[in-house]
Amino acid sequence: MKTTKIHILISCLFIFSVLSCNQKKEQKIKTMSITQTETKLDLLDLQTKNKLGKDTVVAIINDPVYHKAKKYKAVSASILIKNEIDLTKIDPKNTKIVFECKDGYKPEMPLELFLNAKPYLAFQDLDAPKGTKWEAIIKDGNEMNAAPFYIVYTSVSEKDTRYKWPYNLVKIHLEPLNKSTLELYPLKNRKLETGYTLFKNQCLTCHSINGIGGTMGPELNYPRSVTEYWKENELVDYIVNPASFRNKVKMPTLGITKQQSQEIVDYLKYMSENKKKI
Ligand code: HEC
Repeated sequence: MKTTKIHILISCLFIFSVLSCNQKKEQKIKTMSITQTETKLDLLDLQTKNKLGKDTVVAIINDPVYHKAKKYKAVSASILIKNEIDLTKIDPKNTKIVFECKDGYKPEMPLELFLNAKPYLAFQDLDAPKGTKWEAIIKDGNEMNAAPFYIVYTSVSEKDTRYKWPYNLVKIHLEPLNKSTLELYPLKNRKLETGYTLFKNQCLTCHSINGIGGTMGPELNYPRSVTEYWKENELVDYIVNPASFRNKVKMPTLGITKQQSQEIVDYLKYMSENKKKI
């Protein structure tokens, strides 16, 4: 009699602990998926669900992509972000906004700077020729289209390079300001900081190192670093002027000097000894 009572008690305790354990697990999974979806916006998905917000017409005096005055149908990008992401749960001062474009181009800027600049998410070009949604963009002889979304500002100078004007935009996500800094910073050799900073500002939008960065251009470090299969002096020259090596090259001439290119290559050599599969 006594033993069965103890038995029942033990099994009850066991069942209870399993149940509460499971509950905890479920809670954990729930909060994890919330934090992940909360900081990532799929713009096409939001458009399909009619959740982009109220549209308006914006006029840009000197559009840096079209190089002329333009008019768009757009929604406020800051209101959209505030509606979709709970900004009280993050620290805007230590957060950056990353723009994910269709072709793998991935520019970024500090979130606070972005939100304070009255940004607009343009979804239709009002100067587009009849029957089309967007006027073509001619860049380096190639014809492109800004669809589906293009970020524009009415109160920012087109010359201020802190502000990004991504087109072909499909997704937006937020991440800690120093995320790439921590992973790619040359901790073991601070002398390479100049090369690292140049790389972060000029190359990371298109290229990744250890999987961190844009995907418009190839990954430069993993599994083999470009410094392992290019002759060093030619790599330096290529970065200064890619068109002198390849016909119809997609990588732009960025206006960096030979000296700066050497600093970047020195940094890339350091990263070749710090490979990581991500
Ligand atoms: C606008 C995007 C863009 C930017 C910015 C850019 N690249 Fe590229 N890069 C490319 C693309 C695309 C390729 C592939 C070859 C081509 O141009 O068609 C490439 C190719 C390369 C290659 C050759 C890779 C190989 O395996 O042959 C190297 C090296 C390189 N880039 C380094 C750099 C460095 C360093 C910077 C910064 C100073 C930089 N790139 C900035 C787009 C870019």
